[in-house]
Amino acid sequence: MSGALQLGPAEAQRVALISDALQGLSLPRKTLPCKWLYDAEGARLFEAITRLPEYYPTRTEVRILDECGPEIANAVGPGAAVIEFGPGDGAKAVQLLQALQAPSVYLPVDIAPEWLTAVTSRVAAAFPELPVKPVVADFTQQFDLAGRAAGSATHLGFFPGSTIGNFEPQDASRFLQRARSTLRPGSRMLLGADLVKDIAVLEAAYDDASGVTAAFNLNLLRRLNREAGADFDLAGFHHRALWNAAEERIEMHLVALHAQSVRLAGRVIRFAAGESIHTESSHKYRPERIEALAAGAGWCKARMWTDPDRLFSVWLLDG
Ligand code: AVJ
Repeated sequence: MSGALQLGPAEAQRVALISDALQGLSLPRKTLPCKWLYDAEGARLFEAITRLPEYYPTRTEVRILDECGPEIANAVGPGAAVIEFGPGDGAKAVQLLQALQAPSVYLPVDIAPEWLTAVTSRVAAAFPELPVKPVVADFTQQFDLAGRAAGSATHLGFFPGSTIGNFEPQDASRFLQRARSTLRPGSRMLLGADLVKDIAVLEAAYDDASGVTAAFNLNLLRRLNREAGADFDLAGFHHRALWNAAEERIEMHLVALHAQSVRLAGRVIRFAAGESIHTESSHKYRPERIEALAAGAGWCKARMWTDPDRLFSVWLLDG
């Protein structure tokens, strides 16, 4: 085996970041994949976002899961294996596992092994009797549970947080299709999706008064400076959140305040004044579109729960 050509995980990540950045920043409409927002500082800032008064999705979903927990548990039945796609800090997993009747095993799936370690210890500490079997995989691709959920009464996929909204609708459909194959037909999926609503509410949620979301967005440039050898001037860009009515999504952009050049991995990237980098899309759905999206991917609606203001939705799908 030639060890010299093997990259460690951190180095492989850095290579992928540079390649994504060079590619996205040479397009006529500059863009960067939103997954790069989550380095350690980005994850910390996202946590802070979930506690902002303007950011309604997290607390609304938590409330729905809390209030509808018994109904979810009855619909799912006892002995379910819970397979979570991108578990974050594991807080929602703890909430769901608490509600379910005698879950058989918890499988957090993430590409970042260090996050899985944290989730695994959190869930194991909360449920000492429950087997926790982390799966290192890119959940946007099909992957194999390798018998880790064998013998469970049901396979329950769990994809909360409206992370589905960060996919282009076509990719969301592909994700749901692949998840169905991964979980096996006959499984179920608990999916959180943010709903279309008043534009002012949406824009405030993504451009809060205390500037945490702005810091979260700008942190991407700091990361590029550190990990991709770039020299972005953070004071030369500002955060912008806008509602794209045609696509029914909130977009986050980093807008160049004046014309400037930036070096990145030996290349020069030019910005005109007012030119932006599109860093994230957060699609908002109408309930009928979620149903259609799910149906197109082989899932059918079993139940849907929402809050009294219809801000957020939680779906139980049959695969
Ligand atoms: C990753 C889907 C939970 O799109 O609402 C929060 C990320 N971006 N504020 C979202 C995010 C800006 C978030 N989710």
